[in-house]
Amino acid sequence: MSLSPIRPLDLSRRGLIAAPAVILLARPLAAVVLPTPAQMRGPYYPTVKPTDSDMDLTEVKGRPGRAAGEVIEIVGRVLSARGGPIGGATVEIWQADHQGRYHHPRESAGSADPNFQGFGAVRTTATGDYLFRTIRPRYYGSGSFMRTPHVHFRVVAEGRPELVSQMYFPGEAMNARDALFRALPGEAARDALTAREEPADLPRYRFEIVLA
Ligand SMILES: [Fe+2]
Repeated sequence: MSLSPIRPLDLSRRGLIAAPAVILLARPLAAVVLPTPAQMRGPYYPTVKPTDSDMDLTEVKGRPGRAAGEVIEIVGRVLSARGGPIGGATVEIWQADHQGRYHHPRESAGSADPNFQGFGAVRTTATGDYLFRTIRPRYYGSGSFMRTPHVHFRVVAEGRPELVSQMYFPGEAMNARDALFRALPGEAARDALTAREEPADLPRYRFEIVLA
């Protein structure tokens, strides 16, 4: 067995240029995630924000009753495309009640549940986390305007474009018939807007948000 002779250190121009390229290729590439797809705001963003707009949409300050419907939690993190947490971001949600009605002057199906807050806003923690307690919204509309159950999101973080989008529920049969859900460009986009159910005391849905 013959060993190749040790070559002197290559200090030629070619060698100096080539070396950094090798180092770059050897470094593991950071995973870059696609930003959460945007979706239309829709007509039901509150015209006037409710006085009580905290993380718990199942009760309204000053009212003894609780919102009707199945109580759920929606949790997640706001992240950059490189996976870093974005703390201090504002996350707003608004949604229909257990009968598919919004608190909004344009709601034509009747008054929404007065014990349901309908809108909530929180700031993410330093780890980018947010949490809402709410109820599972019902579908609404009819025919081609039928909307599968969904929760609207608006996320604002300093130095980044605002994100307006919608969260969908996993395993919901109506998703496949919802025009807005179907219009999403491909399986990856539909997957990104579909929450993951997590084991918890209450039904808990995780919705991770990636900002551009
Ligand atoms: Fe909606």
